[in-house]
Amino acid sequence: MKKLIIINGPNLNLLGKREPEIYGHQTFEDYLARLKSKFSDVLIEYFQSNIEGELINKLQDVGFSYDGIILNAAAYTHTSVGIGDAVKAIKTSVVEVHISNTFSREDFRHQSYISQNAIGVILGFGLKSYDLAVESFLNP
Ligand code: DQA
Repeated sequence: MKKLIIINGPNLNLLGKREPEIYGHQTFEDYLARLKSKFSDVLIEYFQSNIEGELINKLQDVGFSYDGIILNAAAYTHTSVGIGDAVKAIKTSVVEVHISNTFSREDFRHQSYISQNAIGVILGFGLKSYDLAVESFLNP
C-alpha cells in the first residue's frame, strides 16, 4: 500500500472559518475523511503546524521512507528558505499544493521557495487540489 502524507502549514487549521470566500467553507478534517474514503487503497497521513521548524522536522522524518509528500506550506511557501532546503534535502518526492490560485493574488504570493524542488505544483482548484495531488502519485 502506498504511504502518502499531507503536510499543511500555518493557518490551514482554520479552514472553514478563515476567509471562506477564498478557502471555502469545509474544515480540513471533514475534507480529509472524504479523501481517505475516496482513496481507500492508499495510506494518507496528515500533519499540520503553524511553526516553521516543526514543518521542517516533519519533512525530515518522512522524507526518506514515504512514497510521496503533498505539501501546502501556506504563507511559508513565499518566505521560507529553510522549508525549500528541506524539500531539496529529502529523497521522497514532494507535490506542492495550494487551495487558491496564488498567481491571481498579490505579487508576494507569486514567489515559491518550494516549486523548484517539487516534482509538480497543483494550485487553484480549491480542496480538490489535494485530490489531484494524490492522483499524481497513483498515476505517475
Ligand atoms: C495557500 C496560499 C498562500 O499564499 C497562503 O498564505 C495560504 C494558503 C493556499 O493554499 O491557497 O495560507 O497556500
